[in-house]
Amino acid sequence: MSKIKLFDPYIDKSENIAVKRVLESHFWASGAGSGEVEKFENKFLKYINSKSCVAVNSGTAALNLALSIYDIKNKEVILPSLSFVATANAILENGGIPKFVDIDENTLCMDPKKISKLISNKTKVILPVHFGGISSNLTEISKLCKDNKIHLIEDAAHAAGTTYNNNKIGSHGDLVCFSFHPVKNLAMPTGGLISINSKNYKKIEKTLKEKRWCGITNRNGVNYDVKNIGWNYYMNEFSAAIGLEQLKKLNHTNSRRKEIAKMYSKKILIEKKMPFDNECSYHFYWIRVKNRDEFREKLLKKGIETGIHYKPIHTFSLYKSKIKLPITEKIGKEIVTLPTHPNITKKDLEKVIKTVNQFI
Ligand SMILES: Cc1ncc(COP(=O)(O)O)c(C=O)c1O
Repeated sequence: MSKIKLFDPYIDKSENIAVKRVLESHFWASGAGSGEVEKFENKFLKYINSKSCVAVNSGTAALNLALSIYDIKNKEVILPSLSFVATANAILENGGIPKFVDIDENTLCMDPKKISKLISNKTKVILPVHFGGISSNLTEISKLCKDNKIHLIEDAAHAAGTTYNNNKIGSHGDLVCFSFHPVKNLAMPTGGLISINSKNYKKIEKTLKEKRWCGITNRNGVNYDVKNIGWNYYMNEFSAAIGLEQLKKLNHTNSRRKEIAKMYSKKILIEKKMPFDNECSYHFYWIRVKNRDEFREKLLKKGIETGIHYKPIHTFSLYKSKIKLPITEKIGKEIVTLPTHPNITKKDLEKVIKTVNQFI
């Protein structure tokens, strides 16, 4: 019995050719981010239609750097708890205070009505996560940011190709962070990117490029200066070359993901499931079940991998506090994610639907 994987990158010959080309060029990486990295930044910028793009080596690096742009030391950042822990870690890394907000039960993105209650004079950033590829309510969140002079940084790790009111995610917030981890819609061995839409985008771009390469600035031949701390966060040439090929396929692969999600939303006979939204890029598709461990075990026995996204961050020892997030906590116990990657065949899809319906 062949296994139906939860995640699986979609590749063809073009990625093979791209990797071989980089390998044989002997130019595998540069702190300056020239070569394939720069090409990828330019193509992704056109794809999402933002002002500037800075490629880095992971979504985690993108979040760490983006939050370092606005001095958040001892300031508050509002974020959902239902996310990968990197979203919150980036706040601690920058000396900020995470303020977790509950989510909307329909989209599992942060609930704007609950955000306003958390805003204080210490709030510096709102950090929405476009959960599973569904955009957060950017109209209301942007308004809250504008009215309260707060920066908007988006965690778009799940949202390469998602649109909000017909504009691509990446073209809205001050800074928007993408992940190109191998499980993501646009897959690389490792990679990430920060899209910039602020008015002072040129200055931010310069700072981010310095920070992604150990703080190196004012390069002139072999001479350079270092004025601020930086890290080794630059993207390598293999990732960028694969990314360029993945980007050409992204609309196609996302439309396949949408077809799969449409079938799940029509045919899975459970009330609590991810809604179908034509603007969503469906990084994964979630359902909610009561008997989760047993349910996942039964599916696995039939050769179907599922996931749990996520254990809420505020329940980890590092983040434990007295806050109560009733919807997040309930969903954290029930959520199961199903495969939506484009390698799923029609037969696989029918099998997943039939098996899920059998065991719910
Ligand atoms: C919501 C979210 N944020 C951030 C990240 C971090 O991205 P990366 O794994 O590329 O560091 C991920 C990836 O797993 C994610 O799902």
